[in-house]
Amino acid sequence: MENTIEQIREDALAELANASSVDEIKALSVKYVGRKGRITLFLRNISSLPKELRPSAGQEANLIKQLVEERIKEALQRIEGSDLNSTDYIDVSLPGRAAIPGILHPISQINQQISNIFKRLGFDIAEGPEIETDYYNFEALNFPKNHPARDMQDTFFVSDDIVLRTHTSPLQIRIMEKKHPPIRVIMPGKVYRCDSDLTHTPMFHQVEGLVVDKNIGFSDLKGVLTTLVHQIFDEEISLRFRPSFFPFTEPSAEVDILCVICRGKGCRVCSQTGWLEVLGSGMVHPAVFENVNYDTSQYSGFAFGMGVERIAMLKYGIDDLRKFFENDFRFLRQF
Ligand code: DAH
Repeated sequence: MENTIEQIREDALAELANASSVDEIKALSVKYVGRKGRITLFLRNISSLPKELRPSAGQEANLIKQLVEERIKEALQRIEGSDLNSTDYIDVSLPGRAAIPGILHPISQINQQISNIFKRLGFDIAEGPEIETDYYNFEALNFPKNHPARDMQDTFFVSDDIVLRTHTSPLQIRIMEKKHPPIRVIMPGKVYRCDSDLTHTPMFHQVEGLVVDKNIGFSDLKGVLTTLVHQIFDEEISLRFRPSFFPFTEPSAEVDILCVICRGKGCRVCSQTGWLEVLGSGMVHPAVFENVNYDTSQYSGFAFGMGVERIAMLKYGIDDLRKFFENDFRFLRQF
């Protein structure tokens, strides 16, 4: 009899030492100390032993049961405590989480597209200060003090004489002060106006353009702007040059494209006109050339300025300008 319980003990300890998973250990627990386990059955059979053997066999079997139960507990702790079996281990075979690649903001994308179009046409690219003097933002561009044309510019004043630039046009003056013709340059950048609603934000982006040389005419302006608009909108959309007024150009024209939504029939987006305004332009005013000491008998030129957000809204059919500045990734990642 003692042999038998000794045998059970040896088997149990050997098997527990080899067990390497929680499931295996649980199975061994059932096999040895479960309701029908070998040790349990042995204890139950003690009553059938000769009377004199019963106490020592019972004592021994109980000690072995205790020992095996202890070893089961230890084995479970050993495995559950180890990295491979703890509940928060890393399964290196699972597919990884994809990193979301960054994209350029839609305004940056349009800016780049515009720059690329003008680079191919042989233009330089220039930038300048966002905090400007009254002289560059207005005076040199032929906006006299107290002229009503200043009203439209909704200016943020830093002091009486310093403003946040309301347009990129002051760069025309800065460039012409430094360079002699021929000039072919675009000037992208941020501009500021005290205005905020569905189609206006206090900060937005413009791209200014300036061409000065001998024999530059309105036909050059039309040719360059037609190429620009066709390339931006990726189709030969109809353009309309509509007479307008800017103090620094004469004649001045606003450029409209056939409404991209209704194709000229008239809809809410184009206010039933069939046309959408995309930029301002004109032949550089002689007063501006005089301010930078260019000889008006030799040189002529044209200039234009457009709002980048406006182009993006028309190109992508977006009705609320503020979406561009909310940084909602669900919106931005669509471009
Ligand atoms: N600076 C004008 C504005 O922001 C836009 C503009 C119109 C620029 C005509 C030009 C131009 O260069 O020729 O309202």
